[in-house]
Amino acid sequence: MKQVRKAPIIHLLSEGFIPDDVISFGQGIPFFGPPKTAVSEVEKNASQPKGFTYSTDQGFFELRCIIAEKLKKEQDVRVDPETQIMVTAGANQAFMNALLAITSPCDEIIFFTPTYFNYVMAAKMIGCKPVFSSTDKQFQPIFSDLESKITKNTKAIVTISPNNPTGAVYPSSLLKKINTLCADHSLFHISDEVYEYFVYDDATHRSPLRFDSMMDHTISLFSLSKSFSLSGYRIGYMVFPENLLDELLKAQDTIGIAAPSPSQFAAQKAIPLGSTHCKKFFSTLENNRMYIQKEFSKLSLVEHCWTKGAYYFFFNLNTTKSSWSLAKKLIENYKIIILPGEMFDVSHPSFRLSYGNLSEEGVKKGLHRLSEGLEQLC
Ligand SMILES: Cc1ncc(COP(=O)(O)O)c(C=O)c1O
Repeated sequence: MKQVRKAPIIHLLSEGFIPDDVISFGQGIPFFGPPKTAVSEVEKNASQPKGFTYSTDQGFFELRCIIAEKLKKEQDVRVDPETQIMVTAGANQAFMNALLAITSPCDEIIFFTPTYFNYVMAAKMIGCKPVFSSTDKQFQPIFSDLESKITKNTKAIVTISPNNPTGAVYPSSLLKKINTLCADHSLFHISDEVYEYFVYDDATHRSPLRFDSMMDHTISLFSLSKSFSLSGYRIGYMVFPENLLDELLKAQDTIGIAAPSPSQFAAQKAIPLGSTHCKKFFSTLENNRMYIQKEFSKLSLVEHCWTKGAYYFFFNLNTTKSSWSLAKKLIENYKIIILPGEMFDVSHPSFRLSYGNLSEEGVKKGLHRLSEGLEQLC
C-alpha cells in the first residue's frame, strides 16, 4: 500500500485553504440530478425486506435482465444475465473485481496516458505493474506504441472511451484493433464505458463487446454515476466472459457482498431510460463546451485539443512552473479548482478541466478567474 500514492483529489484539497466561493472545475460529476422515477422506486421499496437487506451477490436478477436488454437494444450485444453480468458498487469496484479475478501479482496492465488515477492505484494495490502507453496530440492511443508494450507478463489493456481525463472518444476501428490484439495475445480488454452517452458532434460510442464474437476476452464496465447522476448511490455493472464468474463472485463477496439494494431498485428504473435522461441537459453541456473552446483559443499559454466526449478538457500549459503548485495557487488566490496533470501520470505542466458540474454562469465566471490566474501566475 505504501507505494500507492494518496487519493490525489483529496490530497490536493487537503493541502491548503479552500475559499468559500471557490468555483470547481475539479469534480467529474454532472450538474443535473437523477431521474425522479429512480428515486421514487427507492422510496417505494424502502420498507420491504428486499429494499433493505443484502441482495444476491451478482445483483437482482430482474436488474441483470434489464441490463442485458439495454445492451441488446443499444449495442446489438447479446449477453446472458445469469452468467455474464454483475451489478457492482460503481465502476471503480467493478474494475477492482476484474483485476482480482484475472491477475496474479507482478502481472502487467497497460494504460494509456493521461490515465484515470483510480485504476492505476487499483493495479498497484494488488501488486500488478502499471505500464503506460502513449497517446497522440488528439489523445488517441498510438497502436505501434501499444504493441511494443506487450510482454509475456501483460494481462490486460485498459481503454476508457469516452475518456476521463481527456474527453477523447476512440473510433470503433481502433477499439476493434485493440480487441483483436487482445485476442491474438490472450489478453483481456478492460473497457470503461462510464461516459457512454456523453458524446458530441459526430462522435458515437461503440462498445468493444460488439467486436468479441466469442465473448471470451472483453470486460466492460458501466456506471450510473454520470448518465443518471447517481454517484452517491454507488451503482454500476460489469459484463464479462462467463468463465470469470466464479472468480468475480469471490471478489464481490469479499469487497462488498453486493451492490446496495436501494440503488439496485433505482437502477431498474433508470437504465431503461437510456440516454434520454442526460440528453435533456445536453444544451448546457454543449454551450459550456463551446464557450470553453472559444475562451481557450484566446489564451496563448494554453495548448489544447478539441475532444468530443465526457465533459473534460485536458490542456498543456506553456510554462516551466509545476502544475501542482499552480493548482494550489489557483485555489487559494483565484478561487478556482482545476486538477494538475501529475494526477493523471503526465509529467509536463498540464491540467484537467471538468465542466460537468457547472451552470453556464459558473463556467463563464470560472473561466474568467482561470484566465486571469494563469496569466498572472505563469
Ligand atoms: C473513467 C471513470 N471510470 C470510473 C469512474 C468511477 O465510477 P463509479 O462512480 O461508477 O465508481 C469514474 C469517475 O469519475 C471515471 O471517470
